[in-house]
Amino acid sequence: MEKTVAVIRGDGIGPEIVEQALLVLNRVAELFGHKFRYTDVDMGGCAIDKYGDPLPPEMLNKCLASDSVLLGAVGGPKWNGVPGPLRPEKGLLRLRAGMGVYSNNRPAKIWPQLASASPLKQEIVDKGIDFLIVRELIGGIYFGRHETLTQQGEAVAVDELRYTEGEIRRIGRIGFETARKRGKKLCSVEKSNVLDSSRLWKKVMHELARDYPDVALSDMLVDNCAMQIVKDPSQFDVIVTENMFGDILSDEASMITGSIGMIPSSSLGDGSRGLYEPIHGSAPDIALKDLANPIGTILAAAMMLRFSFDMASEADCIEAAVSAVLDAGFRTGDIYTPGSCRVGCGEMGRLILTNLRKP
Ligand code: IPM
Ligand code: MG
Repeated sequence: MEKTVAVIRGDGIGPEIVEQALLVLNRVAELFGHKFRYTDVDMGGCAIDKYGDPLPPEMLNKCLASDSVLLGAVGGPKWNGVPGPLRPEKGLLRLRAGMGVYSNNRPAKIWPQLASASPLKQEIVDKGIDFLIVRELIGGIYFGRHETLTQQGEAVAVDELRYTEGEIRRIGRIGFETARKRGKKLCSVEKSNVLDSSRLWKKVMHELARDYPDVALSDMLVDNCAMQIVKDPSQFDVIVTENMFGDILSDEASMITGSIGMIPSSSLGDGSRGLYEPIHGSAPDIALKDLANPIGTILAAAMMLRFSFDMASEADCIEAAVSAVLDAGFRTGDIYTPGSCRVGCGEMGRLILTNLRKP
């Protein structure tokens, strides 16, 4: 099969982790007889430096013309002073919106090899951690009106949190469909004791539940959810939540699995074209030092094969290679525990590549 992939290396550790993912993809292509064609796309801080815009329209068009998009990470302190609408992160938000990828899928699953890297007590980890956060990605407070004004001589900042029933319904359906394919438990997370948008969210989720009698729906307030994720993560199967709650809870969920460096994510809309990225940021403090963990991005590439290209065996093959390398005791700094063998970003990528085997 031949597929085109728009590749956004981005800023900070972005280029080094994406490089490793591309080497892995190329080897998979060789093994399975595919051809992946890459188009380079500038987005984020590097695009601000080159074009004065974190996502110039022609860059978005390149993404829309590809079968899928693979992204490293964007942002860094260098661009902290630029105005809000021109920040590197704004490029990412415009890309998500421009691609219409409203459903962001973030797995929190513990690799047994990394159980000791989890900050949770062993007895909690032993009960199992394997859930998925379905995060609404192109609505809510991220996309409401943002404004800083002066009122009576004082600065006032406004960020609007707005959801339409339709936006809630389409992500809710993804939540139910996802739960149906897994453990059939869906937890809808909101703040309905305070927010109107959350009360609407809850109402729509319960309406949808009538179409999914086989899925057990529960509701949880977001503050309680933050607590339950560290108290007993084994209770969760699928969590569906709005944009900002999902952003925060997915960082928390990744940490209990050992490291944010391990977690990939997929973002999909109505078609098969997706945006695939690790959930971590650009980590400028460790950039260009060969210290980054490329596994999140390599697993994001695997997700791309599985969900956008219908290449399940190819994705399995990448995940098995990651597992084999962890079994052999190799670790980047973020997942290092005494007794294991510490390697850099390039070496971790190379080890995964040499462990790729066609089943
Ligand atoms: C994420 C990141 C982004 C987000 C930032 C970089 C805008 O934290 O993907 O979780 O908040 O969505
Ligand atoms: Mg985040």
